[in-house]
Amino acid sequence: MVFENRCNRHGTGPAKLTTGATRPIEPKHLTAPKRKANLVQTMLSDHDFYILLEHLNRPWAGFRRVRKGVKKRIRRHMAELGCSTIEQYLAQISRPEAKTACEQCLSVTISRFFRDRQLWQVLQDRILPDLAQFASPSLRIWSAGCACGEEAYSLAMVLSALTLPSRPALVATDAQQACLERAREGIYNRSSLKELPVMMQARYFDIKRKGRQVLIQKHLLPPIRWQLHDLIGDPVAANPFHLIMLRNNLLTYYRGSALKNAFSKILSQLAAGGCLVVGRHERLPGADYALVRDEGCPWVYWLKKQWPSPVHTGKIF
Ligand SMILES: C[S@@+](CC[C@H](N)C(=O)[O-])C[C@H]1O[C@@H](n2cnc3c(N)ncnc32)[C@H](O)[C@@H]1O
Repeated sequence: MVFENRCNRHGTGPAKLTTGATRPIEPKHLTAPKRKANLVQTMLSDHDFYILLEHLNRPWAGFRRVRKGVKKRIRRHMAELGCSTIEQYLAQISRPEAKTACEQCLSVTISRFFRDRQLWQVLQDRILPDLAQFASPSLRIWSAGCACGEEAYSLAMVLSALTLPSRPALVATDAQQACLERAREGIYNRSSLKELPVMMQARYFDIKRKGRQVLIQKHLLPPIRWQLHDLIGDPVAANPFHLIMLRNNLLTYYRGSALKNAFSKILSQLAAGGCLVVGRHERLPGADYALVRDEGCPWVYWLKKQWPSPVHTGKIF
């Protein structure tokens, strides 16, 4: 029995049982063209994918909408390891190296400039000017899980439109080195600009490759510090941030104690009176935090001012 490729909409797991067998994945010893042809035919059912997520303690709800691309990467990894069943694959990923590679396959790096346009208006009109007033000696901002830099560059664009008393410190981190390299390079598909006002497109981007790609004009923007950082396993910064953007990563793709511990750790880096921004469809992993939801924007939370100062853990970024 396998689950059909259709899933319930509430994120509790694949929806419907059907009969049939998962087609096997050919092992490593096949020639490259045969392996490729086989990979195209191979199915990794939603049920198999669900079993994998359960094994890794990751939420089905977070991956449901993006599973097509993620499953494709997992199938490729299974084929590389010569696994023809999910059980074989689970055995293989008991090795740390294979597990790391599997977790990389789970990484979703979709982003765009000014993602959720309404938020950026609120950041520009109210939140950043408010934060700048009390931030001393200068505003510190962290784009956590920044993908290829779309969010961090969007922040830089908003900051450059404001009159600030001192130069802000803008840090952008991700667990994927490849993402950070792409961020530094600054080349994007034009589709990633779709929420950016036309005036800003013209100001900050050069068109490349017959209009299909754009290159960001970094020299017009405040500098960004790009840093490799795992939200789950790595310690956090030495100095607190006034604004932390934690959107469409930790709260969507993790669950349980890993999520709660990482969230508390990140929150410990928010300055009293500072601001946490989460993704449009994301919820906090509990209610026992000293956070107050912004009245004008539901994805923005303020850390109560009496909250104790962040614990410094040593790693500096
Ligand atoms: C969907 S993108 C979101 C990018 C951006 N924050 C946004 O909202 O547009 C998720 C990013 O989070 C990163 N990520 C996932 N798990 C992570 C972890 N444990 N530590 C650091 N980054 C992580 C991924 O590598 C990916 O680049």
